[in-house]
Amino acid sequence: MGMYPSPVGLPFVVGNEGAGEVVAIGPGVSEFKPGDRVAYVAGLGSYAAERLVPADRAVKLPANIGYEQAAAMMLKGMTAQYLLRRTFKVAKGMNVLIHAAAGGVGLILCQWANHLGANVIGTVGSKDKAALAKANGCHHTILYRDEDFVARVKEITGGKLCDVVYDGIGKTTFPASLNCIRPLGMFVSFGSASGQIEAFNINILQEKGSLFCTRPTLNTYAAKRDDLLAIANDLFAVVASGAVKIPVNQKYALRDAAKAHRDLEGRATTGCSILLP
Ligand SMILES: NC(=O)c1ccc[n+]([C@@H]2O[C@H](COP(=O)([O-])OP(=O)(O)OC[C@H]3O[C@@H](n4cnc5c(N)ncnc54)[C@H](OP(=O)(O)O)[C@@H]3O)[C@@H](O)[C@H]2O)c1
Repeated sequence: MGMYPSPVGLPFVVGNEGAGEVVAIGPGVSEFKPGDRVAYVAGLGSYAAERLVPADRAVKLPANIGYEQAAAMMLKGMTAQYLLRRTFKVAKGMNVLIHAAAGGVGLILCQWANHLGANVIGTVGSKDKAALAKANGCHHTILYRDEDFVARVKEITGGKLCDVVYDGIGKTTFPASLNCIRPLGMFVSFGSASGQIEAFNINILQEKGSLFCTRPTLNTYAAKRDDLLAIANDLFAVVASGAVKIPVNQKYALRDAAKAHRDLEGRATTGCSILLP
């Protein structure tokens, strides 16, 4: 869709996350050795059987995390971590709205927000996706293609509205999402699966109750090595504890990557997808 243009132009190899075994190291690398099990979020190039990864972007995998689980969760799980623990600190009793709750980031957010004690409300595109979101910690689901999600959020929260809205959808859920937020609450626009939010008058935030609005990216939150390790280790801990399960709901051969993309764009996937070389 052209939303995240390649910094190297065309042609390029897509993909930003993966997991595997270190087969060789470059000069000056001391933290890793061949045979180490690692995972990463890094620059483009992960749709490949072998690749180069900057050592400061790799993390060692604990023995209890498998390669498929790790490949599925590095970008999406670390995103869930910073969204819930850093961008806005979700706490017990808060009302949280998660758009596309049955998606890759969505299912991880639902489980983790539930684990933190929040009242989790999720929007989904179908009844099957609603059942899946519910099985993954979402307390209330809204079929946003058929129902007015603002009215439903008002009803579910008894008029209190949400402390925070996590929105990876963009164009079709904005600006209605702002009507779901209590005064001084936060709108977190972390993606734009339906298209980008167009320029808007900032005064709307005052009208809706002195709202906060941010458009975060994992790149900023994990730019420093210490932060990357802290975010990854928190994710590994919550997965190892069993509180958050990584739903690998689609597996494709690497050669079928185009089909994986068609399914994702066609809203035919749930949870995480992985490509296997
Ligand atoms: N900022 C960051 O750090 C960061 C990190 C990771 C991902 N992201 C972004 O977060 C978003 C979600 O990523 P994801 O991997 O978890 O994807 P995903 O949610 O698994 O897939 C997209 C989902 O969005 C929903 N959707 C609504 N309108 C859509 C439309 N017009 N076209 C396609 N899908 C539509 C669909 O669910 P329903 O059928 O339920 O509506 C679809 O399944 C993406 O925009 C991604 O780029 C941002």
